[in-house]
Amino acid sequence: MSIVQLDFAEPFFHVEYLENESHCRIDQKSMVINLAEREKNNILLPGGRKIVPLKAAILQDVEITNLHKALVVRDFEHCDLTSAETVEAIKKQWKTLYEMSGIERHKGLPYYKSPKFCTGEGRDHIEINFCYVSKGGVPSGPHRDHDRDFDEVHAQILGTGMMRIYDYDDREHVHQELPMTAGIVHDRMYDKKGKYPWHEYMSVTPGIYCPIELDRK
Ligand SMILES: [Fe+2]
Repeated sequence: MSIVQLDFAEPFFHVEYLENESHCRIDQKSMVINLAEREKNNILLPGGRKIVPLKAAILQDVEITNLHKALVVRDFEHCDLTSAETVEAIKKQWKTLYEMSGIERHKGLPYYKSPKFCTGEGRDHIEINFCYVSKGGVPSGPHRDHDRDFDEVHAQILGTGMMRIYDYDDREHVHQELPMTAGIVHDRMYDKKGKYPWHEYMSVTPGIYCPIELDRK
């Protein structure tokens, strides 16, 4: 049983990682992401309702039970992206996508990434961070492969964005758009073997999203 206060998104967000807690009280409006994808008993029950693995909910004045692995973003709306001061502080503290990846196609993109939170070993290994996008309508760049073999989804924390999925053979043709507002985690886009279509995040408004990576081996 543990509740770990995470500092990867501080001072902008107060995030907790919870494992095997029988109860967790949510007072102020907060976002809860169920990460218990690899566990047998894995459905969170806030107030008698359900959050299935790799989905989230915005909750207030409720107690969660049956909690195996979850991320709680306390009072997530406290981070005000209309505040120039906050935006400048995020840009100063978080590195640009290009600084993090060194990938040429990321050069000049208005994407800023927080440090990563990593936990667990093998198939229990999870990596999470937050990403701020300062402009709407900016795609992150389509890709199909990742640097590790993991199940990947994204949770929208603030603002609006989408995951865009392309045909395997024709990157110009948008095959599917999965829109996301705060509290939405898009549906899984990988198959049983961990094969991905071409995909990319695209901002609709300035916002913050949370890439979630769960190792497959
Ligand atoms: Fe990806």
